[in-house]
Amino acid sequence: MAQETRDNVVPFTPKNEREVAKDATESVTSMGLMGAFELVDTHTHLNDAKFADDVADTVARARAAGVTRLINMGDTLESSAQAIVLAHAYDGLYAGIGIHPEEARPLTAADDEQLSAWAQDERVVCIGEIGLDYYWVKDEPTRELQRRMFIHQLDLARQLHLPVCIHDRDAHADTLAILKREGQGIPAVLHCYSGSVEMAREFLRLGCYLGVDGPLTFKNAAKTVNVVREMPLDRLLVETDAPYMAPVPMRGRRNEPAFVRFVAEKVAELRGLTLADVARQTTANACAIYGLA
Ligand code: NI
Repeated sequence: MAQETRDNVVPFTPKNEREVAKDATESVTSMGLMGAFELVDTHTHLNDAKFADDVADTVARARAAGVTRLINMGDTLESSAQAIVLAHAYDGLYAGIGIHPEEARPLTAADDEQLSAWAQDERVVCIGEIGLDYYWVKDEPTRELQRRMFIHQLDLARQLHLPVCIHDRDAHADTLAILKREGQGIPAVLHCYSGSVEMAREFLRLGCYLGVDGPLTFKNAAKTVNVVREMPLDRLLVETDAPYMAPVPMRGRRNEPAFVRFVAEKVAELRGLTLADVARQTTANACAIYGLA
């Protein structure tokens, strides 16, 4: 989602692990994030420039908060490469590789070769994030380019036997139509799901998982609240899409993987479950769709 900063891929600077872990535990304790459960942030952007100075601390704070695994998504070839570097640098970090719809361009054979080579990496767990964005892109030729690139990357995912993580903003009908036509047999996640209950049923019928994040905790979340109330819990994933859209009560701050707990708490409240129940189920879901060890 980081349209304004997507190209600013930044190097990470490893620090003294013990120092980082101590700081993280202290700050997580002060935020009230400690607890005996395990969560997966299934969609995050640690390649974003907003994490330039503190990837190590961010990962340590996540771990201290019970967020033991993170899936770090690529938006471009550059950020996909960086996602793989980070996935090898930190335990519990996995990478998505792919080109985001806001970066739409005709894909070349060289792009396919690069993505295919990366797909062999054991830390790469999906093609993502890919999809359609009609909120930022209004002109029809660029939307058509997005659709072609989306279909192209679905094809690639099928060939590479990888699931896909899909960005669908204001493009529910076309996303659904393309998945029905071109996505047969490809495990898929609709990340940051923002459609209606009716549309959710259609995606669920196709076998998709739905990811929810910060907006679920916002006051105007009625539509997504209904989706979470109605949908089968074994298809739900929690995520942050950090660094943007921090959940309440962190709204307005830089979002980070440790905050996925607030999303899970909201799910627990809506479903009348404990946080531990939601953590157990959503973590099992994440392991199932992304094949996490
Ligand atoms: Ni994203």
